[in-house]
Amino acid sequence: MTEMKRVYIETYGCQMNVADTDLIIGLLGRSGYTATDSPGEADVILVNTCAIRDNAEQRVYGRVGELKRYKRPGDVMGIVGCMAQRLGRTLLDRVPHVDFVAGPDGYRMLSELILRAGDGERSAEVGFKSWEHYEDVPPVPSNKVAAFVTVQRGCNYRCTFCVVPMTRGPERSRKLADVVREVERVAASGTTEVTLLGQTVNSYHDGVRDFADLLRAVGEVDGIRRVRFTSPHPNDFSHRVIEAMAQVPEVCEHVHLPMQSGSSRVLKRMLRRYTRESYLECVDRLRAAVPDLAITTDIIVGFPGETEDDFLATDSLVREVQFDNAFTFKYSVRDGTPAVKIREHVPDELAGERLERLIGTVREVARRKNANLVGSTHEVLVEKEARRGGLLQSRTRANKIVLIEGSAETIGSYRLVRLTGTTGSTFTGVPVAGRELAVLVE
Ligand code: SAH
Ligand code: F3S
Repeated sequence: MTEMKRVYIETYGCQMNVADTDLIIGLLGRSGYTATDSPGEADVILVNTCAIRDNAEQRVYGRVGELKRYKRPGDVMGIVGCMAQRLGRTLLDRVPHVDFVAGPDGYRMLSELILRAGDGERSAEVGFKSWEHYEDVPPVPSNKVAAFVTVQRGCNYRCTFCVVPMTRGPERSRKLADVVREVERVAASGTTEVTLLGQTVNSYHDGVRDFADLLRAVGEVDGIRRVRFTSPHPNDFSHRVIEAMAQVPEVCEHVHLPMQSGSSRVLKRMLRRYTRESYLECVDRLRAAVPDLAITTDIIVGFPGETEDDFLATDSLVREVQFDNAFTFKYSVRDGTPAVKIREHVPDELAGERLERLIGTVREVARRKNANLVGSTHEVLVEKEARRGGLLQSRTRANKIVLIEGSAETIGSYRLVRLTGTTGSTFTGVPVAGRELAVLVE
């Protein structure tokens, strides 16, 4: 009898990489590999990487260097994901102890690449396969409480700062029936929340059905109580999609709506295809349809040519929209993206200073909004043990994190909690009913 080979995989970057890691475990499982969470035990060590900003890549280099000590003779190490796709063979040249690289469309080749590495061959699998959805591969979800389901791969926008079209290739949507089948499968395993993933997820279209159809179909799956999606593009919020969000009770009251900048001049240079005004209009349409909608966003500062006035426009838009939270980034030059050619570089120190100011505004706005929620009652899904104080981490439909007391057996269940306090970003809460909510509402 041959021994099962063990694979250790570390994941960086966005939720789609988390979902891809589940897929890789599913794929390698078919070839006789089991997952381990200890690199020292592994025969195969993989790092699933992000290329979105330079610091994401630097972190990977650091970590791949550290993991080298776990690589015993005969073990194999591979770098997969967006950084692998972006750098290809260059990455093999830069990191001699790495045996292979494989991009997001190359995972079907993984067991082959591992075998070749055993023969001393160093390979790069970085072709785009615009048909690839890994439809026949059941992912092995790492999270049993809430699942990520990829519904669309690649991106057809060409935001001038962004490397994603180069690392994940052209946009393609899975067939609606295939997505529903996967959601049914995770629901059958007891998972009640799904997050639908795509780079511009609301542009989902399988040739016949659009994102509105998808939200309705997924909401109807037995056992699914919460549906989330990320990230939509402001231009793809059709009337139909917003109507589906409002009408499907399972769709949660939270949207992550990347804004990038509040200056129409900068937005134009970013090729975001909307203006400050039309972004605001999108926010208004969403809020009119979905009361109490929480809105979070992504913002870049220091994009080439950004003036103080442009930055102030971004800062003021944060106040105007009243975001619940924002991920804020300093612009990072990505080779091969159109923005490289814009010569008006913003000095790093200035960009850093703008980032600090923006973070201040984001925190102030969020703190005020969150303070207003203290005292209100919400349904939460208990997700996991919190890092501190023997508490449990739970989440409201609006995506607010609430720390509550309770036993680990309640993980995966729904509770009604009253918010008792906030740090400004997360909350503490107490259950208002001793019993499980599911019992109360049935
Ligand atoms: N369409 C995807 C975008 C993924 S990238 C989505 O909306 O989820 C996630 C965020 O990273 C972007 O919204 C943007 O704010 C930021 N980002 C992308 N490229 C960047 C760059 N070159 N420098 C800094 N931040 C960047
Ligand atoms: Fe990137 Fe713009 Fe697509 S941010 S992922 S090119 S929508």
